[in-house]
Amino acid sequence: MGLIKNLRSQFKKPEGLLGSIAGMLMTIFGKEKNKWTLSLLNLKQNDHVLEIGFGPGIGIEIASKIIQNGKIIGIDFSEKMLKKAYQRNKKAIQKGKVELIHADVENLPSFQLHFDKVYSINSIIFWNNPVQTLMNIRKLMKDNGVIAITVQPFTKDATVDTAKQFGIEIVKQLVEAGFIHVKTELKQMKPVPIVCVLGVNKEFQSA
Ligand SMILES: C[S@@+](CC[C@H](N)C(=O)[O-])C[C@H]1O[C@@H](n2cnc3c(N)ncnc32)[C@H](O)[C@@H]1O
Repeated sequence: MGLIKNLRSQFKKPEGLLGSIAGMLMTIFGKEKNKWTLSLLNLKQNDHVLEIGFGPGIGIEIASKIIQNGKIIGIDFSEKMLKKAYQRNKKAIQKGKVELIHADVENLPSFQLHFDKVYSINSIIFWNNPVQTLMNIRKLMKDNGVIAITVQPFTKDATVDTAKQFGIEIVKQLVEAGFIHVKTELKQMKPVPIVCVLGVNKEFQSA
């Protein structure tokens, strides 16, 4: 496998030296997509928030500046990213505002609370069974909780149509998983356009 191809594969589960490079790239290029996704979620100071696939922890850091009396929990199955995100968010973790968990979204741990907001950026493309996983996530959410799933295509020649195609796929997955009021947001962003699909959880008791 060539170096570039090998580096690309590191975005799924960053490990070793190449995983560190992938993490660095996520840090450099991650701020805008994380900020945008979180702005669409309209976080409130008391929200309980879950991020899936937090990578180097940029989104967790932004969210922790908004959340004051709530809680932010992140899960990621890469130990390398757990360490990076831990370093970045050490203070908020020590204060108990942030908790980072080493876990696979396809084998979710149990939580003491239900979430108002859930988001995931450039991670769903790596999940083996996104619909079943989204159904399981829905059970962790409060009634009327909101989910945001963002994808920025990795290919450098991606166009707005590429982002739209991802959006169509994610809409189908969210609807199949039982989310309602599903809507798509698109944005021109360098190096390629980005899509975020939002959905609302209907009563989790009936899931
Ligand atoms: C491309 S990175 C995106 C990181 C971050 N969301 C960002 O945009 O900066 C994808 C992240 O999802 C994580 N991931 C992929 N599949 C996962 C799974 N099944 N369970 C938990 N984390 C997963 C990877 O370890 C990686 O940190």
